Amino acid sequence: MATDGPLLDVRGLSVSFPAPRGERLTVASGVTFDVGAGEVVGLVGESGSGKTVSSLAISGLVAAQGGRVEGSARLDGTELVGLPEKELRQLRGARVSMVFQQAIRSLNPGLTVGEQIAETVRRHRQVSRKAAWDRAVEMLDRVGIANPSARAQEYPHQFSGGMCQRVMIAMALCCDPRLLIADEPTTALDVTVQRRILDLLLELRAEQDIAILFITHDLGVIAEMCDRVVVMYAGEVVERGTMLDLFRRPRHPYTQGLLDAIPRGRGRRLVSIPGTVPPPMALPSGCRFAARCPYAEPGRCDAEHPPLRQVGDGSSGTREARCVRAEELELSGVVTA
Ligand SMILES: Nc1ncnc2c1ncn2[C@@H]1O[C@H](COP(=O)(O)OP(=O)(O)OP(=O)(O)O)[C@@H](O)[C@H]1O
Ligand SMILES: [Mg+2]
Repeated sequence: MATDGPLLDVRGLSVSFPAPRGERLTVASGVTFDVGAGEVVGLVGESGSGKTVSSLAISGLVAAQGGRVEGSARLDGTELVGLPEKELRQLRGARVSMVFQQAIRSLNPGLTVGEQIAETVRRHRQVSRKAAWDRAVEMLDRVGIANPSARAQEYPHQFSGGMCQRVMIAMALCCDPRLLIADEPTTALDVTVQRRILDLLLELRAEQDIAILFITHDLGVIAEMCDRVVVMYAGEVVERGTMLDLFRRPRHPYTQGLLDAIPRGRGRRLVSIPGTVPPPMALPSGCRFAARCPYAEPGRCDAEHPPLRQVGDGSSGTREARCVRAEELELSGVVTA
């Protein structure tokens, strides 16, 4: 069912896992954002902020790990939360695909890469073995693997890390999904290989009008890749906005801290935010960032848990921050032009 709304509409998504003594640990709460057709949206935040669990919840992969998902995630109008596994399997690979950090681990070492891609094609499309194989070779070619018909007959261990990542992207895109969730797809790769994979994703996006949810902790990569940005901290969305607006004028002190941590030019020191993200079992009752925030006001910021709310006049699209001081603070960004 197609709708006029965004391609992916995530609202109030929460993920919890069983903890000792029968309790549940909530690791993502009230996560709300959307991705338009053909748009690249970055999901950024320090390690443990809930980026991966949120994306796994969207793909229906949390239950397999014993997790529970609440809230809503609609893809083209179809509610994904609570959808039976059989239907989710139909959607995964066909309408939404994922690429993870360590491609080699997601590939089957006992099958040639051609067989693996062809198998994915046949899972979703009623085509002959020959047609599926041809599609696999075509996809390997499309992601820049030289001599694709010969390489299709090789096994994953015969490919480098960067090539495995290309194979994963070929597999993710072989059934023309509308949404690709890329979870740190280049983190394990060296800088030049990373560059080529990012270029490839941008090319594929331009060619196929595919939307990408790009998960990373690297704001430099976000600046290059994304139209809009969602910032997560300690399981929550703390800021949302267009990439340029958010880089020009962050509205949450945490975003400013992340921007400060981008090394600019030679010799510039990487500034990291002092302190650590509070773990899910020890979240403060007020603002979750207050203990690390240089602007926190005692008695105000630690008193109440702030909601994610609209800031500014809306002239530069949806602009939201989870900070009671969002309007009064003049935070500095990195884009000055
Ligand atoms: N299967 C699980 N069972 C219990 N807790 C989990 C499980 N998976 C993730 N968590 C917890 O959920 C929280 C969020 O983890 P998540 O992997 O989503 O973080 P992330 O933002 O992707 O971090 P990173 O940048 O390191 O990938 C963490 O506290 C993590 O320990
Ligand atoms: Mg992760």
